Amino acid sequence: MSTAPHADPNFPPNLNIAPLHLAGTAATPDADAHGQAAAIARYGIAGRVWEATAALVQYLTPGAALEPACSLFGNSSAPHRVLELGSGQALASLHLASQLPRSDTVVLTDLPAVVPLCEASIAAWSAREGGEHARVFARPLAWGEDIDSVREFGPFTHILMCDLVYFPHLYPPLLRTLLELTEPESTPTEGDTFGPEIIMAWKSRSLALEESFFDSFGRYFELTPVLGGGWDEERIFVCRRWRVTEEWRLPSLKQVMAPQPGVVVKRSFGLVDDLFAHLEWE
Ligand SMILES: C[S@@+](CC[C@H](N)C(=O)[O-])C[C@H]1O[C@@H](n2cnc3c(N)ncnc32)[C@H](O)[C@@H]1O
Repeated sequence: MSTAPHADPNFPPNLNIAPLHLAGTAATPDADAHGQAAAIARYGIAGRVWEATAALVQYLTPGAALEPACSLFGNSSAPHRVLELGSGQALASLHLASQLPRSDTVVLTDLPAVVPLCEASIAAWSAREGGEHARVFARPLAWGEDIDSVREFGPFTHILMCDLVYFPHLYPPLLRTLLELTEPESTPTEGDTFGPEIIMAWKSRSLALEESFFDSFGRYFELTPVLGGGWDEERIFVCRRWRVTEEWRLPSLKQVMAPQPGVVVKRSFGLVDDLFAHLEWE
């Protein structure tokens, strides 16, 4: 699947996708749960539920036997403010909202044309859900453009990403938005990492194309793989920004994929390289 950089990323040429039936959810092979067929017709790629959702739902469930444990279910009493990028049907983030108290906030975001899908998902979820849960909002947020639409909900404690690494021309705007959302208010003076935690679930489809994203992403963010899920091609990483110095400046879209001055990168690339080698050959 490929698409021209300026075309609608949700309708690449020859799009041919079908609803996904996730085990352990309301979906069955016979029932088009979440109205995916109609949503695919209207929203293209955004209308489908994508494979990494199952792994992310597992991670976003209290008591999951995964390492590291999800920090959203720790003992902290401070409210969580969670932002999701590229939400689409938003199964995993709405599942999360069901686990969190009313004092927490979950903000779904997507391209402006896809926000009605997010809103419909919230409405269906609200109708199903009883009792206490986090407050959920939907807002437009196109990667690479300004983040004004979500500022009122920040600063965020967590950022969710589910199956967003697939079209190489989207990597620079996605990375730029991740940096903008995690920018420090002042230069951090201690610790190797800082800022909100990014929880990234991703299913590899073509490592040769995906590697450039992880190569650039790893220059700005520490990645910790979540272990114990026994997933096939899905992976979850918990990520935080590497410390920056006074020299750091938010790079432009054109520069964002290249190494930038002012980032204090502490990790070796060995861990992620091992993971990639394993995925490639297993
Ligand atoms: C593969 S789908 C994943 C949807 C959902 N997270 C899931 O896992 O089911 C990619 C999502 O990214 C969104 N997206 C693509 N390009 C985008 C952009 N430039 N800005 C914001 N969102 C974008 C799409 O609309 C779509 O919802």
